[in-house]
Parts: sequence; C-alpha cells; structure tokens
Amino acid sequence: MKKYPVLRLFLRLAGFAPIVALALGLTSWAADSNDSSPRQRLLMDFGWRFHLGDEWGLAEKLDKAGANSGPAGSSFGDASWRKVNLPHDWAIELAFDPHADANHGFKPMGPGFHQNDVGWYRRTFSVPDMDKGLRFWIQFDGVYRDCRVFFNGWLVGHHESGYSGFRYDVTDLVNCGGENTLSVRVDASEFEGWFYEGAGIYRHVWLLKTSPLAVEPDGIFVHSQFPNNVPEGPATINLEALLKNAQSNAATATVAWEILDPQGKTAARAEQSQDLKQWAAKAVLQQAEVSAPALWSPESPNLYKLITTVTSGGKIVDRTETEFGIRTLAFDADKGFLLNGRPYEVKGTCNHQDHAGVGAALPDALQYFRVRRLKDMGCNAIRTSHNAPTPELLEACDRLGLLVMDENRLLGSDAANMALLEGQLRRDRNHPSVFIWSLFNEENQQSTETGARCAESMQRMAHSLDPTRQCTAAASNGDEFKGVNSVLDVRGWNYSIGGVDGYHKNHPQQPEIGTEQASSLCTRGIYANDKERGYMSAYDDNAPAWGNTAEAWWKVYSARPWLSGGFVWTGFDYRGEPTPYTWPCINSHFGIMDTCGFAKDNFYYYKSWWGDRPVLHLLPHWNWPGMEGRNIDVRCLGNCDEVELFLNGQSLGRKPMPANSHLQWSVKYAPGALLARGFKAGQAIAEDKVETAGAPASIKLSADRTSLHAGDEDVSVITVAVTDDQGRVVPLAENLIDFDLAGPGRILGVGNGDPSCHEPDTFIPSGTSHKIALNDWRMTRVPNTNRRPEVRENFDDSQWDKADAQSDSGPLAPGESAVYRTRFAAIPDELAAESLAISFGMIDDEGWVYVNGHPVGESHDYSSQPSFEIRKFLHEGENTVAVAVHNWSGPGGMNKGVALEIPDKPVPVHWKRSAFNGLAQVIVQAGNDAGPLHLTAHADGLAEASINIVSTDDSTQPLLP
Ligand code: GAL
Repeated sequence: MKKYPVLRLFLRLAGFAPIVALALGLTSWAADSNDSSPRQRLLMDFGWRFHLGDEWGLAEKLDKAGANSGPAGSSFGDASWRKVNLPHDWAIELAFDPHADANHGFKPMGPGFHQNDVGWYRRTFSVPDMDKGLRFWIQFDGVYRDCRVFFNGWLVGHHESGYSGFRYDVTDLVNCGGENTLSVRVDASEFEGWFYEGAGIYRHVWLLKTSPLAVEPDGIFVHSQFPNNVPEGPATINLEALLKNAQSNAATATVAWEILDPQGKTAARAEQSQDLKQWAAKAVLQQAEVSAPALWSPESPNLYKLITTVTSGGKIVDRTETEFGIRTLAFDADKGFLLNGRPYEVKGTCNHQDHAGVGAALPDALQYFRVRRLKDMGCNAIRTSHNAPTPELLEACDRLGLLVMDENRLLGSDAANMALLEGQLRRDRNHPSVFIWSLFNEENQQSTETGARCAESMQRMAHSLDPTRQCTAAASNGDEFKGVNSVLDVRGWNYSIGGVDGYHKNHPQQPEIGTEQASSLCTRGIYANDKERGYMSAYDDNAPAWGNTAEAWWKVYSARPWLSGGFVWTGFDYRGEPTPYTWPCINSHFGIMDTCGFAKDNFYYYKSWWGDRPVLHLLPHWNWPGMEGRNIDVRCLGNCDEVELFLNGQSLGRKPMPANSHLQWSVKYAPGALLARGFKAGQAIAEDKVETAGAPASIKLSADRTSLHAGDEDVSVITVAVTDDQGRVVPLAENLIDFDLAGPGRILGVGNGDPSCHEPDTFIPSGTSHKIALNDWRMTRVPNTNRRPEVRENFDDSQWDKADAQSDSGPLAPGESAVYRTRFAAIPDELAAESLAISFGMIDDEGWVYVNGHPVGESHDYSSQPSFEIRKFLHEGENTVAVAVHNWSGPGGMNKGVALEIPDKPVPVHWKRSAFNGLAQVIVQAGNDAGPLHLTAHADGLAEASINIVSTDDSTQPLLP
C-alpha cells in the first residue's frame, strides 16, 4: 500500500507541513487538508488500467440511467488491460509514420489512423464508510481529448476540450464503505491545434471531498491592492470565499482568514460571518492589511499563504490553504509593463507543453526542470501558448519566479467557450505569476467586427472575475487597429516588427506587448542547412517569412520600452510543426533549446542580453576533419565590452561587442583550440574555448538532481554525454547507448533533441496474455441465488447434470436460477503471475461468481462480458469455481465460454537511445519505495558509465534544490 511518500511529495510541492496520510483501500493518495477539517484533495494518479482500442464504442446505455455497460460499467473485468500511472500520453508510445499528420509529429492518429484514436482508462478505489454525508468531486486537470467519464456505471460528464480542467460532482453516486469505479473513454481523433497534442489523461486526476458546508472548488480569491497602485506602505488584501451550504437546513458560517508571510509568521487576520440558506451558495468578502509586504517578482518570488477556516455550529467544517503573492501590475502606453511600479521588460518565451521522452505527460518535477532551464538563460516570463496550462506549471512559476501570460485556447463568446474561459480564470487568478490573460492566438476573425465583439465579451468577463489583470491576444494582423485590437486592453503583437512604430504613432494611448516573436530556425550543434536530414544551421541566420532571427527581433524590442518586451517562439522545441521541412523531420526547430532542454547557441544570445551575468560563448564546435585550411564562420556571443579570439594561441584580433548583437570572424580551420577572451572595462572577465575533440571513448552521466522523493512521481533528468579520452564532449557523436536501471524506480523516457530521430522515446512492456478455456461444468437449478450452499468450495456436485458453457443461449427459462460449478488445477507458473482473471462470454442475466468459496465479483448486465481478478483466491492444486446465475427474461444461463486469462511473463524492456551531436537524455522516475537507484549506460566501443540517485521518503528533504 503506497501513501506516505506521495503525500509528502505533494505537500512539499505545495510548501505545506506533512500531515497524516489517509490510506483508503488499495489506493495511493496525497492529501491537502488538515485533520480538523473534512476537506481532502486526494491524488488519483496510480493503479489505472489502460486499453487502446474502440471495441465498445461509446458504451453508453441511453435508455436507462446508471446502467452503462462494458468498460463503462462497474462489473467489467479489466485485469488484462495494461497498468498505467498518470500522467499518461499514449501518442508518445506510437511509432512514427510518414503518412501521419506532420504538424502533430507524424504520430499515427487522426485521419487515416483511427485504430489509435480511442483509449479507455479504468480504476477502482474504496471510500470509507465514515465519509457518508461529505461532498465529492472527481477533478481532471487535462485530458486529450473528448472524454466521457463514468462513475459506478453512471455517465457523469462529457468534456471535449483537451486543455481545460474540469470536475464532476459525484456526491450522489459515491459508494461509501465500498468500492467505486471510475471509467474514462478518451477520443483523440480530432485536433485542436497544429502541433503535437498528446493523447489520454495527461495531467493529474484528483478526488476532492468537503463537508456539505464548505468553500466551493476554486472558491477562494485573494488579491492585493495599494492606493494608486503604488507598492508602498501596507497592502490591502481582498479576501473572498465562495461558500456552499449543501444541506437541508439554513446555517451560519464564520470564515476566518489567516495570512502567513514568506517566513510562516502570521501577517494578518480577518473574519466574517454569513447566514446561508439551505442549498445556497454565497460569496463571503472581507479585507485585511499586510504592513510592509515582501513583494513578489521573478527575482524575489515571495509567497504568502492564506489559510481559510470555516466554522459552523462551533465546529471547523472546512479549512483550505492558498498561496498568493503581493505585487502590482500595470501597463503604460509609454513605459510598457510595470511590475511593482517599475518598468519591467518582459524577456519571455512561448512554449507548448511536451518534452522529450514523455510527450505531453510531464511529471511535476519536469515542469520545475523546464522553468529552471528558462530562468538560467535570463528568461523571466512564459506564454502558455496556445492553451490553459497545467496547474503545476503555474505553481513552479510562482515558486521559482517566472511571469506567465496565461492563454485561452479560442476566440468566442458562445456559452461553451465562455465556460471554459471562466473555469480558467477562476482556477488561475490566485497565482502571482500570472500577469496578463491572453484571450486567443491568431484567429481568422481577429480583424472583423464580429471578432472584436467576441473579444470584448471575453475581456468583460475576465475583468469581472479578476479586477487585477488586463487582457491581450496574440494577434497576427500587423499594423491594424480594426477588429480585436480596437477593444483589447493591451495590443499583442505576433511578428510584424515592421509595423510597430506606425501603430504606436497612431494609437499612442494603447499599451503594447510582443506576444509572439522570432521563430528563428536552428538545430542544436548543426552549422549548415540540410534538407535531406531535416536540419537547420544553428547560426541564427534563418527564420520563416513571417518571423525573424533572435537578433533581429530583440534589437527592435529592446530599443522600444513601450513594447513591454515580448515572447520568443519558442523556449523549447516541440513535436510537430517541422517548419520548414517535413518527413523525416518530426519536430520543430524554433526552440532556443531542443526537446530535451539542451541549449542551442541562441541560448547564449539571450543569456547575454537578458541575463545579468557575464556570458561568452563561441560557435561552432571545432571538429571539421577535411576542412583544414578552409574558412570557418566563427561567431562569438556574449555581453563583454570586447572580445579577443585566439586559434592555437595566436590572436586573431580584438573587437568591440555591439549591443544586442554578436561578433564574427572568418577563421582558417586548423585542429586545436579556439579561445575567446572577454573584457569588461579593460579587464579580462570571461573565457570560452572550443577544442577539437578526439574519437568517442566514454560516456558521462550527470543528473539535475541526485536525490529524489519516493512515491512514483518525482524524476531526475539525466544528461548523457559521449566524450573523448580527455572527457570532452564529442560534438558529432551519434553512438547508440543502452541503459539499465537497478533499484526502486523506472526509466520514463529517453530523448536526444534530434528533430529527425525516429527512435522510440519510451519502451512499453508487451503486456500480452493468453487464455485457457474452463470446461467440464456441472449445473443444478436452485430456487434463488441468495446465500447458496452450492457455491461453497467443497460442495458435492458429483450428481449434477453436465452443462454446456459454450452454447449461445439457454437453458434457463425466465425467472429460473442455477448454480454452475467446475474445477481446475493451478500450476506454480500460473500462480507466479501478478494477476489472473476469469472471464465470461455471457452471464445471462445476472451472476455471482465464487472461487474456492470466496465471492470474486458480480455481473448484472448480460451483454457486459465480465471478467474478475482471482489471483489472490487461488492455491496450488485443485481450485473450484461456482457461479450462481439468475435469468430474468428469454432464455438465459452461463454461455459463450469461460476462460482463465493469464498474463504472459513480461519481456524485459530494453532502453536505448542514440546520442545526437554528443548528447542524449534519460528521465528516471523514483518508484514507490525509497532506496538507491543506479543507472548504467553502455555502448559498443565506449567505456561505460553509471550514476547513483537516492530515492528517499525523508520528509525533511526539500524537493527543489
Ligand atoms: C505562429 C503560431 C505558432 C507557430 C508559429 C511558428 O504564427 O502562432 O503556433 O505556428 O507561428 O512560427
């Protein structure tokens, strides 16, 4: 039973003190609550079964409620389905196919590949009897896409958007004191974007519980304000709690708010009582004052914590914690964006949500990894293009310090679109990192009056739910005021750097921001365009017709404070959109980093002009066999005043570095060392050297974190480098490397950042099973199916009639009941299997199944082909199966065959990946148990390498270094 490590990991992520975990059935949980309040937020990521295929269609029974069958029903046996943990993306598991959609990364889904479009997820969990009377929700943070959710056989919802979170109130359906079944049918056949979108339940799922009188989900809103928006003196904290009294009696509730400062000391308190009618909701409002607040900014991400406690009738009925930040936001038409009253240049990147090895299913720790990589190059903001982000990305940005332009997927003021936007606003508005809402990206109607009216309605709703932030949109209509630009608070610019001056001159009152810029096309470690192999030179010389190089856009934006800075397309490469190529290229080239987060040379351009530390970076690498004596285009990126270049000790001259630019030399190639020395105010302050590396000799492993938290969630991101005999990375190495992991954990995925690599990112155990028919049945009619002695293990059935369990129907008449029995011998090999199921072709109409006298399952739907897990009831030698069957109408009985379903021994998966230009990446996930992990990497002809990672459940260990 796993629980504590997960609990601690999530509490630590949330910055809360560990509290007692809740062990419920065989489920693993994380809680976000206090003992004295019934509120719980339980993580449901573990113990799912997954099946790819659409054998059951929608599985909806439309004529009767709560009677959905097949995998949508409770009695369905899913023991032969694959076990998966969330987050899960099945698209990443599919082999690339040149005929599939290029924009979605050539994964065989969608038009022409419908066999891979639909997946089913199921899991069961128990809820304790003592929970009777609580309210329950199942919350999904994101499913790609179009899913139907069934709870205990009831259809509880149909949600189409692949990006928005959603939840269903299942209070009336929960079986307290017993098992509950959640089934989800996911249909990823349609696209919502023009980029890789993944498939499946790729974000967390939670079970929320509250008392009947409690704060509604997403019912807390906390925001600060200062007189005249000047962040000095005490801050007024506006407090709002949306209470719901889901009871038949009116009640009085008192809401007490306590604000803790970043050190955990009480900074303010407030209280407010409220009468609530039965079955009514009401917002309770109050204000508090925090004197001398520690302001939030990307550089100092100071977080306060709001503890909201609700009491009624002298008892605590609810308690919930919300992190928030105190800061001011403003947009000025001349000075640009102001954070805490000062001009603050946005040095941002747009990003999609996928990463090497895992696709769209990112463990939380990988969000933190990516945020740290972005911050390392001086990036201070992200745009969640083109959709609502996962909540853990916002948490990472709050805590590590990145501003967020939080983007809605589509333009539209229809009810469905407005509901999605409203959910996003309510969910995300407490995050201090979110500094502006983006209502859409590049819409066809962006220049029309209809588009303007839709944008205005959306903006009006955003203002009413969030008076603290302004709205923009990623508009690609250049120097054009008509349409959405005429109504939005802040003009958002996608590309069109030539249009900004004219627009600003004609609309001097409107603040502006660069929502999407650059689109420079580069491949890591490549220095010439190569259409055949699908590579672009990393010199920052190429951009599509609508875009610009890094240097071109930043020179324009850095010189115009009123533009507020902007967002580069993109921080990381992503799958799909292989512009300007197509197959064999399967991912984009726009990233400043590749899909693994390895730096391309542009990383150092931005680090130079965005960061505050000295940077000096030489390119290209210095391995050019056959080019001896020929000129090589050598460039130097950095922020020193002057740079002197040396080849093998000989100076090639000293040059002043132009602001926001680079230096260039044409150097006759000779193997050896190329060295740049950077000067500031005449002093040498930095050096960078590229050397001719020798042949690949060994492997070097390094981890972003070597200490993980046990609990099946936390990951370490491991860099694999191929080095020469002096430990230098070999810039062209492509060695195929094998990986073995020992210890309690798993490899989640592998990658190398090569935009044209078709090797698998993940290796899935085969998961096949075989069936053994159960024959030799005997049957006797019985008056009813209640408490039958005939189902006991040793009941003597020798005088019963033989029964044909293979026939299509009969032999029972309407209203008749019978017990069927058989025996089989179990051999040690079968008993060694972790699971073993008994599956029935048809139990017509209802049946109760027993193995060695133990009840193992019930079936109440003749068409459901039930199967039940029985491994734990079996013993070596002879075992007995008994089935009590009742037939309601027509001919009935136990028919169409019965079989044991035995999983085949899993074929060990073998993890491997080629290096690309010297590097690859392995993502290692801690397992449930604590213990040492040992990753070994080996390749033909190279000295092997290994690395130790400790997975610990020591709660004093901070999650983030
Ligand atoms: C933009 C679009 C992005 C991406 C980019 C590539 O127009 O908003 O999603 O396609 O172009 O340059």
